[in-house]
Amino acid sequence: MKLMPLEKRGISNSRVAFGCMGLGGGWNHNALTKEDYLQAEKAIDAALSIGITMFDHADIYTFGKAEAVFGQIFKNKPELRKQMILQSKCGIRMKDDVLPQRFDFSKEHILNSIDASLQRLGIEYLDVYLLHRPDPLMEPEEIAEAFQAIKASGKVRHFGVSNMSAAQIRFIQQALPEPLVVNQLEMSLARLDWVEQGVLVNQKEGANINFADGIMEHCQTENIQIQAWGPLAQGRFSGKPSEQATPSEIRTAELVQSMAQQKDTTPESIVLGWLMRHPALIQPVIGTANADRVLACRDAVHQSKMMTRTEWYTLFESSRSKNTP
Ligand SMILES: NC(=O)c1ccc[n+]([C@@H]2O[C@H](COP(=O)([O-])OP(=O)(O)OC[C@H]3O[C@@H](n4cnc5c(N)ncnc54)[C@H](OP(=O)(O)O)[C@@H]3O)[C@@H](O)[C@H]2O)c1
Repeated sequence: MKLMPLEKRGISNSRVAFGCMGLGGGWNHNALTKEDYLQAEKAIDAALSIGITMFDHADIYTFGKAEAVFGQIFKNKPELRKQMILQSKCGIRMKDDVLPQRFDFSKEHILNSIDASLQRLGIEYLDVYLLHRPDPLMEPEEIAEAFQAIKASGKVRHFGVSNMSAAQIRFIQQALPEPLVVNQLEMSLARLDWVEQGVLVNQKEGANINFADGIMEHCQTENIQIQAWGPLAQGRFSGKPSEQATPSEIRTAELVQSMAQQKDTTPESIVLGWLMRHPALIQPVIGTANADRVLACRDAVHQSKMMTRTEWYTLFESSRSKNTP
């Protein structure tokens, strides 16, 4: 069996990850409620019950409340920490009344952010810590100093990035003593640039593709785990069409539905299975806070193994709405 990049590094892991952005009661500054707690507890239980052990946070999710509600759950069920691989992110600073939205990879901000995340979560360390979005003012040596201090204090085991190109990863990596182990990118049957970028090399149409050149190849060569955010395409193909659904989206949703019926599985498992069929062993980070929808992803691993090349290309071509060149 082919090992995932994180597994090759000895980091135990699950094929699908659970994204915590939907936990904590929404993007507001209201206090956490009992309902927020119970929703998170049910979603986490559902995830663990289908073998998901990797949980993805960020300091900003629901303004810190996603980590905070997780912290409450750990307080009541401390035994859960050992069953999980926990990941969080830093580097985005939200706008407020005075300051604009900005990115911040300064040593001071990284050091403050990890302490704040650990405090909200009520834990001693994170397994993986990511830089959330590229900061144009980043200085790799400064990032390296922050990472080394965090590692030396035992607060983080491994580091990675998110939304970064191969060039940006190389730029940061050259200053680090240890490998970056994750790159998290938006990828789904709706967000196809990561396939188009390769398929359209040397085609006029490819000039408009906005996706980091060579990122799939770079991550596979360097054994960097590619994680997909937005993998369910917010439900576009599995029961929640977008308000301005295009004919190709409607057709693709019908195709997903009929494949699911034919294979006696769920549309969610087909959508995720399509992503996971890629040889990079992409790890989808599912963002549902609904326990039933988590359970609907149960068969994704199996579907990824069963999906034929023809089925994969049929879904790809349907979603791109043009013949494959
Ligand atoms: N690195 C980054 O920059 C970045 C950016 C965004 C997200 N992320 C991570 O990736 C995770 C997933 O991202 P995502 O939430 O954008 O992606 P997603 O998994 O594609 O979508 C999940 C969202 O779609 C809704 N949804 C899915 N199927 C549905 C259906 N059939 N009917 C109604 N609603 C449906 C879910 O609502 P319910 O909760 O009601 O199921 C949830 O709001 C996040 O939790 C976070 O951990 C990372």
